[in-house]
Amino acid sequence: MADLSTTYMGLGLKNPIIVGSSDLTLTADKVKACEDAGAGAVVLKSLFEEQIVDEVRQAREQAFFPDNHTEADDYIRKTTLHLSESRYLKLIKESKKTVSIPVIASLNCIRPDWWTSYATRMEEAGADGIELNIAVMPTYLMQTASEIESTYIQIVQQVRSKVQIPVSVKIGPYFTSLPHTARALRNAGADVLVLFNRFTQFDIDIKKMELIHRYHYSTPAEIHLPLRWIAVLAGQSGCQLAAATGVHSGDEVIKQLLAGAQAVHVCSVLLQEGLGRIGEMLRDLDAWMRRHDFESIENFRGRMSMELEGKPDFYQRQQYIRVLSGSAP
Ligand SMILES: Cc1cc2nc3c(=O)[nH]c(=O)nc-3n(C[C@H](O)[C@H](O)[C@H](O)COP(=O)(O)O)c2cc1C
Repeated sequence: MADLSTTYMGLGLKNPIIVGSSDLTLTADKVKACEDAGAGAVVLKSLFEEQIVDEVRQAREQAFFPDNHTEADDYIRKTTLHLSESRYLKLIKESKKTVSIPVIASLNCIRPDWWTSYATRMEEAGADGIELNIAVMPTYLMQTASEIESTYIQIVQQVRSKVQIPVSVKIGPYFTSLPHTARALRNAGADVLVLFNRFTQFDIDIKKMELIHRYHYSTPAEIHLPLRWIAVLAGQSGCQLAAATGVHSGDEVIKQLLAGAQAVHVCSVLLQEGLGRIGEMLRDLDAWMRRHDFESIENFRGRMSMELEGKPDFYQRQQYIRVLSGSAP
């Protein structure tokens, strides 16, 4: 068997397949099932700030406190936060007790001070690393690109200054100059960039004339966006890269490693077809490596990246005339 081990966020992984943040990692038992299926690491389901705020609201309603009752309000907010937080911290502690693979906590906040307070407590609970799931949606006319980017940078800087454990940042693809932003996130303290956050799909129900937020599972066809950006960023972002979205088989794992990824996050295919797919991906990766006489992933990682491949046109041209005119193979 080839050596499938890799490093990720400075942690040693037995293989590059990480079960991504999702319902697959919602309980310690589920995390154990991921380990048993062969995963190299897991990212726990995210703790969302909205989730906590909603619990605060419910507690407030149950206690019949009026909105302007600030002291009581503050008390409830603190106690409910504590409850919510303790549930998440329990998940970290139980998972760490149950498995030996790295357990990465995941955090998605809106308010700046919440990022640091939760990250600190996640570290204290024993998380091996923290993934910051940052998604600032540009919806206001007066919001400039640099203001939005500096929000990302500030969050990473603030969390980095409070925790010792490695920090990864899961971002979306909508940046004007991703290489520049990636380097800025690295300089702010990110150890890994996870490409990309897959947002809920915005839709409209034309019968009811209502807005719909759906979450469809990904397909392997969605690999191309993260694949391109992993290949472009590998070697110049200064931090490790993980590919998320569209990894459904060993072929996609191999492609992302060739592009320069340190690891891949997988969710949709496991939710649809079961955790057994992890073993199949690992067997396919191993067979491919042996066919090509690669003893370890380091022998081929990044071989097709922009840095090493040596055909800048493939990465720089967004509309390749031979493809569009149908003359390319
Ligand atoms: C049911 C479900 C729940 C998810 N929950 C989270 C979450 O809590 N936090 C997060 O960062 N990503 C979440 N994701 C996104 C996944 O972590 C992953 O990035 C995305 O699904 C792309 O990977 P895939 O193509 O293998 O599905 C979720 C995905 C699914 C399908």
